[in-house]
Amino acid sequence: MFGGLESALARYAPRPELEEVGRVHSLGNGVARVHGLPSAASEEVLLFEGDRCGLVLNLDPDELGVVLLDESQQLAAGSLVRRSGRSLDVPVGPGLLGRVVDPLGRPLDGLGPIQASGRLEVDRPAPPIAARAPVRVPLQTGVKIVDSLFPIGRGQRMLIMGDRQTGKSTLALDTLLNQQGQGVLCVYCFIGQRGAAVAQAVAELRSRGAMAYSIVVVARGEDPPGLHYLAPYAATSLAEYFVEQGQEALVIYDDLTRHARSYREISLLLRRPPGREAFPGDIFYAHSRLLERSTRLLPEWGGGSLTALPIVETEAQNLAAYLPTNLVSITDGQLLLSPELFQKGIMPAVDTGSSVSRVGGDAQLPAYRGLAGELRLSYAQFQELESFSKLASRLDEETRQSLERGRRWRETLKQPEHQGLSAPEQIAILLGVSQGLFDSLDLPLIQERQQQWLVRLREHSPSCLSKLAQGQPLDESLRAELLQVLT
Ligand SMILES: Nc1ncnc2c1ncn2[C@@H]1O[C@H](COP(=O)(O)OP(=O)(O)OP(=O)(O)O)[C@@H](O)[C@H]1O
Ligand SMILES: [Mg+2]
Repeated sequence: MFGGLESALARYAPRPELEEVGRVHSLGNGVARVHGLPSAASEEVLLFEGDRCGLVLNLDPDELGVVLLDESQQLAAGSLVRRSGRSLDVPVGPGLLGRVVDPLGRPLDGLGPIQASGRLEVDRPAPPIAARAPVRVPLQTGVKIVDSLFPIGRGQRMLIMGDRQTGKSTLALDTLLNQQGQGVLCVYCFIGQRGAAVAQAVAELRSRGAMAYSIVVVARGEDPPGLHYLAPYAATSLAEYFVEQGQEALVIYDDLTRHARSYREISLLLRRPPGREAFPGDIFYAHSRLLERSTRLLPEWGGGSLTALPIVETEAQNLAAYLPTNLVSITDGQLLLSPELFQKGIMPAVDTGSSVSRVGGDAQLPAYRGLAGELRLSYAQFQELESFSKLASRLDEETRQSLERGRRWRETLKQPEHQGLSAPEQIAILLGVSQGLFDSLDLPLIQERQQQWLVRLREHSPSCLSKLAQGQPLDESLRAELLQVLT
């Protein structure tokens, strides 16, 4: 009668399994203290009850400081915690293009599961110095004032800084939109932005067909601070997958101010000592470790490139605050957006005096370089004259002329949002202005005349435009041909 049981008992040999199990000691605001996992490693993923995970950031002698990556409502003191033995990674691959995901690669767009080609760690080392190539290929933003005066090259890190509501996100979004058909894959990382703003940007990308070459990573406002902190690193890993295939990629961090605030929150909760502005002492390291991952690789290292556009918000245009100065020193240039210009309707509100591109000049198209040099000089002169001429009542003829020309440059460089221009179109317009074709035109008519020029150029001289796009310099015959179309 008990034969079955007896034979089963005879076959049974106990196999002891060792597993470390810890317990939550205390919990709050997205950070947990865990006791009883003595061999857990730094940056290891821990598994909490109910499929929730966290990341070890602090290793103290008798407890772990863990930042939670999921909602923590169902956890309590005493909940069980297990080790996972792995570090944090995200799904990567072309299957993510067109998707909106959270910083752990989980879909937020309701379009079904992610088809990943593999997984990459979130916090990866930057390419070594020996693998890096100089920046030589332009990344066209389609925005005249940026492409002409502060050109960006592929592999460059260009900081966008400015007060609230000065057009920072718009500038980044326009750059992304302008990559259509340029072979640059894009990752837009939203960190703690308003849901409505994110939804609007994603809708804009979808309606313009830009999702086909883009991934959107969103750390929502209500997500725990741990996710905000990880978002830019995860977004970079998504882009690095493509770079390692030898492709070109662009990543936008919108914005690193919110990222730093979340990191500050985590660090204070983990009782790390605060430094300047209560930021943790390693905030500079956190940002440089992130931005050093953007570069252009040598052909023998695959030849891909990762361009980064970090955004940082300033307060009352204070560039000397802790975060902006840190970021200025890490990046290869900055675009400063001025609320004054924005209020005057001079958009994009790029403050030409305080913006600079340290490496992009080498990457600018040859036809652009001569014109841009002229524009830079006469624009700088104009700004000086303009402030000076407010004091002087009578001006000599030459000064008056430079002022009039400068005003026309400024009017020409205005550009509505989401209306990017190709480099050859920009070159043709700048050529027209530098030849004085706008000199006799009233300022309010300039935008309209520009539109007429664009229509004519696209209709009558596609060959000129394609020659310029291929990098041909602006020689006499090309100049004459373009000017003929414009006049
Ligand atoms: N070139 C432009 N032409 C016209 N309107 C613009 C232009 N650039 C931005 N705007 C408008 O200005 C407003 C603010 O732009 P945006 O959201 O990009 O600024 P922001 O600096 O990112 O703001 P926030 O600080 O809230 O993130 C938006 O309504 C946008 O439509
Ligand atoms: Mg913004």
